[in-house]
Amino acid sequence: AVAFALLKGGPPLTVEDDNKIKDLLKGYKARLLPSPERLAEVEAEFLTQMRDGLSKRVVVDGKRMMMLPTFVTRLPDGTETGECYALDLGGTNFRVMHVRLGPSKGEVTACDVEEVTLPKEIYTGPGDKLFDYLATTLKSFIDRHRGSAAAAATSAPPFQQLQPSQDQQPLPVLGFCFSFAVEQDGLASGKLLAWTKGFSCPGVVGNDPCALLSAALERVGRPCRVAALLNDTVGVLAAQRYLDSDTEIGVIIGTGTNACYVERLTALSKWEPPAGHAASGDGRTAINMEWGAFFSPQLPRCEEDLQVDAASPHPGKYLFEKLLSGMFLGEAARRILFTIATEVEGLFRVRAEDVQAVLADAREASIGNMAYATAAATIPKPLATPGSLSSATLSAIVHDRSWGLRKTRRLLVSELGMHQPSTRAAAVVKEICTLVAKRSAQLTAMAVLAILRHNGWAESSPPRPVTIAIDGGVYERFTAYRAMLSRAVSEQLGERSRTLFPLIKFVLSHDGSALGAAVLAAAAVTGR
Ligand code: GLC
Repeated sequence: AVAFALLKGGPPLTVEDDNKIKDLLKGYKARLLPSPERLAEVEAEFLTQMRDGLSKRVVVDGKRMMMLPTFVTRLPDGTETGECYALDLGGTNFRVMHVRLGPSKGEVTACDVEEVTLPKEIYTGPGDKLFDYLATTLKSFIDRHRGSAAAAATSAPPFQQLQPSQDQQPLPVLGFCFSFAVEQDGLASGKLLAWTKGFSCPGVVGNDPCALLSAALERVGRPCRVAALLNDTVGVLAAQRYLDSDTEIGVIIGTGTNACYVERLTALSKWEPPAGHAASGDGRTAINMEWGAFFSPQLPRCEEDLQVDAASPHPGKYLFEKLLSGMFLGEAARRILFTIATEVEGLFRVRAEDVQAVLADAREASIGNMAYATAAATIPKPLATPGSLSSATLSAIVHDRSWGLRKTRRLLVSELGMHQPSTRAAAVVKEICTLVAKRSAQLTAMAVLAILRHNGWAESSPPRPVTIAIDGGVYERFTAYRAMLSRAVSEQLGERSRTLFPLIKFVLSHDGSALGAAVLAAAAVTGR
């Protein structure tokens, strides 16, 4: 009889079940969304870590922000011109781009782009293989592009180059956007401090990614002049600054998350700028915060967040990133939903054939244990499988306004293996997905406002307009997230929101990291 009930999709929810669901949702809401007081404590800690990071030597334990000087003292102003290439490596996709700057001020054109998905064995395998892979792709991109440019024999002169190669062709100029924590010792050199996100190639930490790339490009017979090495946040800042001089902060909310901002050299007491460096700018430099590594015990985390961290490629590190970024949003929601499924049997129904398979298994293994079969009937297998709820699905669920949450129910069948999910089940899933996304938006808002507070922005009189350039899949493709972020900023500004909020502009800097790499490389070779 039990088996029959299970095959029919389990018993209907009782009033007790319904109350239990309400309590569970209330509990998660309280744990995931910080109260204003709690948020203020987190912000205070964030500001302390910022100041410590600016004044003390870098500590690489993945539990504090590293506040890395970027050697970018002079941000672009739109007058840079020329043509160059950009290589953008940061997620499991990387991009190569050919960019033209000018001829008119602020004109930037991505003439050609190629996006390549990195196989897992490349981003977790030996470092030289990773760089060979990048170099090979770049070589065929440049060869193809140069070939077609020569054939077209356009009137546009090639980018002025200083070092001709053996065949007298100018070396292509390249900006390398490498979206990891790098301690730079020049605009085009530095050492990787730690891998983050899904990357773990041995043999790269402690080495110079620019030198590794240049060597790989030599090996494949396409030497380039790698003129700038930068973090994606710096790319976004530079690309937007090229268009809008109010831009002071660059943020990424994608696979990972991070920000950079413009800091006064006087506040950066740990750093001795190289001779002439300070003089080349206006006494300020861009700082790559590596805010993903921020941690405070006051951060709103639940049991499932600890599980997400423990199962991640770099456990115990970059814990702020694990609450904010696209690599982890879906997984946090999945683990919470899994807990709910174990607490409220029958909320998520399982396909009859899946139950049958489990019952048959149980019989064969003479388990004769109905609890096992019942668990199998309550928890669809994909829901128990790490990674099955992607952040893209989470975003589609949060966006669902369809009648009876039809779209969500369809996704629950296709992605999470549920059987005829009820509207109630879909509503629970939507609520959890929304809470996880809101927490991320609230923490991002906290961090952005902390930077502005640190810079004395709100106290300047009158406060100036400020542009925050943002890129990354979460911000770009998850429209509801943008609204959550604006709302969180406005709420957190409190009573000053009415005057201050209109001065803050968030701008999507589409492809900003690669474009910024090109702009900075062009500026570097022309000595601007
Ligand atoms: C990770 C990297 C950081 C990067 C961010 C966004 O946090 O450590 O350098 O900016 O991801 O891609």
